[in-house]
Amino acid sequence: MSFNSMAESIRFFSLQWQILSLTIALLVYFPIVSGSFFKPFNVSYDHRALIIAGKRRMLVSAGIHYPRATPEMWSDLIAKSKEGGADVIQTYVFWSGHEPVKGQYNFEGRYDLVKFVKLIGSSGLYLHLRIGPYVCAEWNFGGFPVWLRDIPGIEFRTDNEPFKKEMQKFVTKIVDLMREAKLFCWQGGPIIMLQIENEYGDVEKSYGQKGKDYVKWAASMALGLGAGVPWVMCKQTDAPQNIIDACNGYYCDGFKPNSQMKPILWTEDWDGWYTKWGGSLPHRPAEDLAFAVARFYQRGGSFQNYYMYFGGTNFGRTSGGPFYITSYDYDAPLDEYGLRSEPKWGHLKDLHAAIKLCEPALVAADAPQYRKLGSNQEAHIYRGDGETGGKVCAAFLANIDEHKSAHVKFNGQSYTLLPWSVSILPDCRHVAFNTAKVGAQTSVKTVESARPSLGSKSILQKVVRQDNVSYISKSWMALKEPIGIWGENNFTFQGLLEHLNVTKDRSDYLWHKTRITVSEDDISFWKKNGANPTVSIDSMRDVLRVFVNKQLSGSVVGHWVKAVQPVRFMQGNNDLLLLTQTVGLQNYGAFLEKDGAGFRGKAKLTGFKNGDMDLAKSSWTYQVGLKGEAEKIYTVEHNEKAEWSTLETDASPSIFMWYKILLFLI
Ligand code: GAL
Repeated sequence: MSFNSMAESIRFFSLQWQILSLTIALLVYFPIVSGSFFKPFNVSYDHRALIIAGKRRMLVSAGIHYPRATPEMWSDLIAKSKEGGADVIQTYVFWSGHEPVKGQYNFEGRYDLVKFVKLIGSSGLYLHLRIGPYVCAEWNFGGFPVWLRDIPGIEFRTDNEPFKKEMQKFVTKIVDLMREAKLFCWQGGPIIMLQIENEYGDVEKSYGQKGKDYVKWAASMALGLGAGVPWVMCKQTDAPQNIIDACNGYYCDGFKPNSQMKPILWTEDWDGWYTKWGGSLPHRPAEDLAFAVARFYQRGGSFQNYYMYFGGTNFGRTSGGPFYITSYDYDAPLDEYGLRSEPKWGHLKDLHAAIKLCEPALVAADAPQYRKLGSNQEAHIYRGDGETGGKVCAAFLANIDEHKSAHVKFNGQSYTLLPWSVSILPDCRHVAFNTAKVGAQTSVKTVESARPSLGSKSILQKVVRQDNVSYISKSWMALKEPIGIWGENNFTFQGLLEHLNVTKDRSDYLWHKTRITVSEDDISFWKKNGANPTVSIDSMRDVLRVFVNKQLSGSVVGHWVKAVQPVRFMQGNNDLLLLTQTVGLQNYGAFLEKDGAGFRGKAKLTGFKNGDMDLAKSSWTYQVGLKGEAEKIYTVEHNEKAEWSTLETDASPSIFMWYKILLFLI
């Protein structure tokens, strides 16, 4: 080969390489940038199923709420959902996170919805996007931004112009955002279905005719956005003709939508439950969950979503209320940290594989044939022409007796059906799966203790866990939060103000301080009667702490409960401090905008010689939040600002302490 031809071929090779690398770049980069993950397709439906690109489909969906994980976790969660047999991811859209201040939008970090949807598309899964924008979801204020309640004349979730205006603006914003990023299926994106409102049927009656009008308005507003995919309203028996009403619950196999033209969808299969502070941790056995799912497809269902497949964490102050804890683990197949929870995850994976084997028959039949097999046993048989020619047949044999096994005959064969179980026969003969037989391994998660290995003078200790090394401080640091008004940003007002009107939910905490002057006569009156005065409040939520002269007199915890707290005053001037706290704003029910926080009704000091003292007539100094909160001492950037001291085991605790530990991950 001559030098020239060698140079030629090198040039040719490098040109080829450039073309190849461009192709690779297009393959890898193009989908993420353009949102084009699929060949564009349409979604419609008939009475049997969603029709995706012209074909009926049986779909399994995994509920994952993007802000309940970190963006670093998203890919792994989606991959594990796919590996577990999901076809679809389902999420709500969290208005309060996306529009924390009216007109100022946030689509960054945990709220980077576009990124989340693109990751779903790039993994080849579909998305059911539940825009709400009321979502319930054990999310603070049901997903509503708290500024919404300040709009004059507003009433949420009813035929009310100011509310409808804001709702429409937000829903439009989300649909436009998805369309601009080309994320709808007809654009090659993963979105196959949307949702407007959430379980409005539960509260509709409270709103009378206006409620009915609101349902119609919400439906036509949603349809009017031209999103080009079906919309769902869950638990909405009066959903209009062009909207699919869907079931939520522990079992949805008996559910029938409000029209024979609509498919049977199960938008929330509650595979566990949430928890309140001090409450028990609910568990739903994998066998019962699998039974419910199999029964659903057995009796004509075609789309089922696990609420939740991954529950995650309520970061920051996003927990709803009253009193929901920060973990949203939910006993879901993927635990709070995104680890497989076994045997649930594995058992469902096996179930999904069996359902997939039945899919050709399930979509071929317009309806199942029913056969009674015994007093508590029944079969549903799906038969039809397979897509690739030939006949297809799948059957589900159920034993709904909770205690006894049953021996049944089906198609000339004998089958033993375990109690409360469904056997799945993808060819109408062989059992591929029985919901009560768990083949997946049970896993036990262990917590490993730290193994210190640094010199004793160091404040850090080395922790070795498998291949990971990290450092953790040897002891906790502590800081006392000041009791009472702590900073300049306070104000004084004659009267008791409503908690949320003051805090605007920027913090859970609101300090109220007033001066109580006690006479010698009062003191001797209390001595004579052997009784102390009391702070008495008709109704309060969620926590009230009462301090006299900076000493804690007592706390009341409850949701709109009466508070009666005895207090002891000295003769002369006393500082009475009331600290009201919210622990997650109400996220369920009608009239959320009226719920508020803090106190309702009369607030008095009782037991004075001259009668009761109306606290609403006193002059109060207010301060929102805690000092440490305002200074953000809980963040990596700002924690050094505060004067921490080492926590001694015998240190006298204060009612409000901050604790910190340093952790370095390498
Ligand atoms: C449903 C609601 C969900 C969630 C669930 C309980 O009624 O639609 O958003 O709150 O209950 O976890």
